[in-house]
Amino acid sequence: METRRWTVSEIDEAAQILKEGGLVAFPTETVYGLGANAMISCSVRRVFDVKGRPSDNPLIVHVSSFEQVKDYVTDFHPYAQKLVDMYWPGPLTLVCKVKPDLFAKEVSAGLPTVSFRMPDDEDTLLLLKKAGVPAVGPSANTSGKPSPTTYEHVYHDLHGKIEGILDDGSTKIGVESTVLDISDPEQAPMILRPGAITKEQIKQDLGIEVSYDRHLLKTSEAPKSPGMKYKHYAPDTEVLMVKEQDWPAAITWVKENHLCAGVLAGPAVCDKVRADTAATFSYNGNSVAAATKGLYAGLRALDETQLRLDVILAAAFPEEDLGVAYMNRLKKAASQKYFEG
Ligand code: TXA
Ligand code: MG
Repeated sequence: METRRWTVSEIDEAAQILKEGGLVAFPTETVYGLGANAMISCSVRRVFDVKGRPSDNPLIVHVSSFEQVKDYVTDFHPYAQKLVDMYWPGPLTLVCKVKPDLFAKEVSAGLPTVSFRMPDDEDTLLLLKKAGVPAVGPSANTSGKPSPTTYEHVYHDLHGKIEGILDDGSTKIGVESTVLDISDPEQAPMILRPGAITKEQIKQDLGIEVSYDRHLLKTSEAPKSPGMKYKHYAPDTEVLMVKEQDWPAAITWVKENHLCAGVLAGPAVCDKVRADTAATFSYNGNSVAAATKGLYAGLRALDETQLRLDVILAAAFPEEDLGVAYMNRLKKAASQKYFEG
């Protein structure tokens, strides 16, 4: 199958194919999603198939308005409307209790809940409106690879397996949405997956206290979000996280052991270590937001160099605000390992 590349001028064709059950990858503000009509079982099964995704991992349903969601959900959480008014369209996915048999059964993977999100990308909102159907949208990568933040990443993983990709350049945020469980109206909302909408921000904007799934706080509990238990985002090369103060020791270790090392960090670090390492991927700034935007592209680029790197050294950030989401993804890529000076 030839995978088409669409731009917004060809959106009618993309929408028609999505509606009729084809697989259409679309851009969002977080990462690219692999779209399929959420009502058609065989299309949703094909999504699991082409990604190589375990079937017990439920999918997010992408919508173009909150009105749509109101038709699906049974008990709305008292904070639902406020959260939507503040953050939709945007990187916040809401897990809700729904009426039975609304979507293809594969969508919820056996759970009594479904998660919804309205992505903040004009082209994709238009695609969803024109298709007129809710669409599942897992990240458009092969399971276990870094999520795609450009058209090229999606093409690399899925060309020949899907009908087409709607191209809208690089995504703004770079990591997947915050998944917030509001399925129990009696309980405080709970973050199942950290993202760009943070616990601190929700408290500041709306005065709402949200908790973290205990599994995110390093207890041995099983995660409430099935997807969080898999080793995600792992490049083939070993990744070690490096704390800001440990860069000099890490570079000494690389030199003493004649290692072929790649570095993933901001320009402040990359400019200093370039002479002593085989490859650097510098993100566009030294902030945690720049790091988050460049994380997956950097892991992919370094993993795919022809240099056969021994190790990728990646900058660690403090685990606060957006740093929680960044470190959640980086720790998985690094199998939790830090460079120990
Ligand atoms: O930013 C995003 O959310 C991207 C873009 C494309 O929208 N999508 C995305 O989808 O990251 P995916 O399928 O790669 O991740 C969905 C996550 C998984 O961890 C899954 O287990 C969790 O959301 N999830 C989905 N439905 C759920 C539910 N009903 N209850 C608990 N967790 C759920
Ligand atoms: Mg994913």
